[in-house]
Amino acid sequence: MRIGIFDSGLGGLTVAAAIINELPDAQLIYFGDTARVPYGPKSQKTIQKFAEQNTRFLISKNIDMLVIACNTASAYALSLLKSSFSIPIIDVIAPGVKSALGVSKDAIIGIIGTIGTIKSGAYQEALTRLKPRATIVVKPCPLFVPLVEEGFLNHPVTKLVAREYLDVFKRAKIDTLVLACTHYPLLKPVITEVLGNQVLIVDSAIETAREVSLIANEIRLSGKDNSEKGMHEFYLSDVDYSFSEIAIKALNLGELDMQYLNIEEY
Ligand code: DGL
Repeated sequence: MRIGIFDSGLGGLTVAAAIINELPDAQLIYFGDTARVPYGPKSQKTIQKFAEQNTRFLISKNIDMLVIACNTASAYALSLLKSSFSIPIIDVIAPGVKSALGVSKDAIIGIIGTIGTIKSGAYQEALTRLKPRATIVVKPCPLFVPLVEEGFLNHPVTKLVAREYLDVFKRAKIDTLVLACTHYPLLKPVITEVLGNQVLIVDSAIETAREVSLIANEIRLSGKDNSEKGMHEFYLSDVDYSFSEIAIKALNLGELDMQYLNIEEY
C-alpha cells in the first residue's frame, strides 16, 4: 500500500508516525512543502493551488490513497481535492471532530489552530453538524508554530504565550480542546499545564491513522493494492536543515530516503 501524505513542512510527521504505528506494512510517500511553509496565514485560493500541486505530485508517485496531514489544507482544500481527483482522500478534520465528540462530556469544546483553519469555519461546521447544541470556543494560535519549529517545547516563552492564548478557554470552562494544527501535539505538556488535567486534549493524528487503516483495508479487499513494500520516501520543496533529524526520530527510522523537487512544476 503506497500512502501519499503531505503537509506544509514537518508537522505532518505526527500523522505519519501514527499511520506507521497503525499500518506497519504501509509505504509512505511524504511531501513537505518547505518552500512555501507556513500555510496558516495564507488565503484559501493560495492553499487550494498548493494542495492541488502537492496532490498531482504525489499521484505521479503512484499512490493508492492520499492523506492531507495539514489542518489548514484540509480546511481550505478538501472538497476541491475530492472533486478533482479520484483516489481516496483522508483529511485530519473529520477524525478530530469524531474523537472530540466521543470524549467530551458536556460538549463545551475548544479549538485551536492556524488563522486559516479557524477562519475557514471547517471545524465549527463539522462539530455543529454532528452536535447542534455543542458550545464551541475558538482561538487561532499562530505563534505556536514557530515556537515548535524553534524547539521551544517547554520554554518559559512558550508558557507565557500559552497562558495568553488559552485564557479564553479557562473562562469558558471547556471540557475538551481540539489541537487543530499538526504542530500542536508537541505542546501538549505546556497546554495541559496551563489548562489543567481535567480538560481532555484531542490530537487527531491517532484517529486519522485509524481512518487510513479502514480505507487501506477496503483497497486491499478490492485487490487494487499492487505495490511491493519499499522504503518510505520523503520529498521536500526546499531545504529544511532539521527535517531529516526530526523525521528519523519521530518515525524511528535508521536512515532517510529524501529528495528535493520543484513543486511549481506540478
Ligand atoms: N501544518 C499546518 C496546519 O496543520 C501548520 C503549519 C503551517 O502554518 O503551515 O495547519
